[in-house]
Amino acid sequence: MEEQRLVSSEERIEDYSIEQELRPSFLNQYIGQDKIKENLRIFIDAAKIRQETLDHVLLYGPPGLGKTTLASIISNEMDVNLRTTSGPAIEKPGDLAAILTALEPGDVLFIDEIHRLQRSIEEVLYPAMEDFCLDIVIGKGPSAKSVRLDLPPFTLIGATTRVGMLTAPLRDRFGVHGRLEFYNQSQLTSIVERTARVMKIGIEKKAAEEIARRSRGTPRIANRLLRRVRDFAQVLHLKEITYEISQRSLEQLQVDKMGLDYIDHKLLKGMIEKFRGGPVGLDTISATIGEESHTIEDVYEPFLLQIGFIKRTPRGRIVTDQVYQHFGMEVPE
Ligand code: ADE
Repeated sequence: MEEQRLVSSEERIEDYSIEQELRPSFLNQYIGQDKIKENLRIFIDAAKIRQETLDHVLLYGPPGLGKTTLASIISNEMDVNLRTTSGPAIEKPGDLAAILTALEPGDVLFIDEIHRLQRSIEEVLYPAMEDFCLDIVIGKGPSAKSVRLDLPPFTLIGATTRVGMLTAPLRDRFGVHGRLEFYNQSQLTSIVERTARVMKIGIEKKAAEEIARRSRGTPRIANRLLRRVRDFAQVLHLKEITYEISQRSLEQLQVDKMGLDYIDHKLLKGMIEKFRGGPVGLDTISATIGEESHTIEDVYEPFLLQIGFIKRTPRGRIVTDQVYQHFGMEVPE
């Protein structure tokens, strides 16, 4: 289900190459996440003055907010190579050892979804992060020997949507922690305008604002909606993306005024119609609407919580009065 959603914050195949092109390359081109940017600016400049590698960086927050982009910016700013992998892609300790031994001094290693690393692999990572070395066991049984292998100094950037799932020893080995927040309306408008410039298409300010408003605080969604709206504008041979075409195409794409789509509607209406607005447990919601509970928790809920449409209580989730108002329903007593 999630794959087909226009407003899903998860990366889709169609986003991949285009995101590469649209991505800002340096910190001064990156819009929003001011706190993280300020910190990184200082840590990067200090590391360069000392001619050292940057400390390991942990980036966390909902999907689509720019964790991978930041990793690539950090490697550009440090003027080193970026090597990219992900927690699930590393299957054996040897896979990680192969990646680590191929690094050049100062390189950035980006591990996406780092919460999905296996424990046995995490253990290889600890000495690598701390002392830039690998402990390799050669042979089996009583004649087994442990050999220490030096690695070049490197910066690990770990990214995760679920920081709570990281083990404490791993979390503690990152010197820099950055939590990405949803973007506000004006930041998203600037991102849409920037992307339109990169794509060499004109856009009215009000059109950029309309796309931003419906993008759930998420640049990946904003850029995806912009591409769809551009399609509508181009088949009509419009010289630029007007407010009117943006509104009409977003209506057509069934992304509502708040950026909610049919899955959000199904979730919220399900809670109202079947459970009188809650409280209702995550697993019950999951069974009712036929979506996995971890998907609800990681993907749909963060934004609904952020805009105050859902609240978590000790007895389960409840919908707030705003949801009734959004759907034009009477708010119950
Ligand atoms: N494109 C996607 N995310 C962006 C950001 N944070 N700043 C500028 N351009 C972007």
